[in-house]
Amino acid sequence: MNKHRILFICLGNICRSPMAEFIFKNLLEKQNCADRFVVASAATSDENVVRGVGAPVYPPAERILLQHGIACDGKRAVQLTRADYDRYDLLLCMDDSNVRNAVRICGGDPQQKIRKLLSFTDTPNDNVADPWYTGDFTAAYNDILRGCKGLLCTLQKTQKGDCHGD
Ligand code: 4NP
Repeated sequence: MNKHRILFICLGNICRSPMAEFIFKNLLEKQNCADRFVVASAATSDENVVRGVGAPVYPPAERILLQHGIACDGKRAVQLTRADYDRYDLLLCMDDSNVRNAVRICGGDPQQKIRKLLSFTDTPNDNVADPWYTGDFTAAYNDILRGCKGLLCTLQKTQKGDCHGD
């Protein structure tokens, strides 16, 4: 059985998309289906961001993950490349500007793999709250968690029997 290959994307790959990567991995582990997935995260930018490629997860993002029992040790920011488009089945962005940048970097989206994470929720047009500007990592965590749950639910519906909902 082919694995689902999921790449989460944000501007800097130090707050929102690493949170999504590790929250989603945690959901998979809790449901005993981590072995059916490849999950990673990447930045659209390597230069607009203060910390840049190679940076660890931003401390407040790491802290809120830890508050929920989720570790993100060893994660370093990497930049999205055109090759990632073929490597992954879904490239899930945190906001509209990530989508525009991801489509540009990938040279288009002929297979409609690039979507917003919250498109898997009942507010499909929403962006994930951006904690970089608000400092509100709780709002970002909650948005990302409901997006990840909606994503997992959608994938489970298309592959019955793989793993079980909570
Ligand atoms: P992220 O957050 O895209 O969720 O990782 C940001 C990180 C850095 C910047 C903006 C957002 N920055 O402007 O440096």
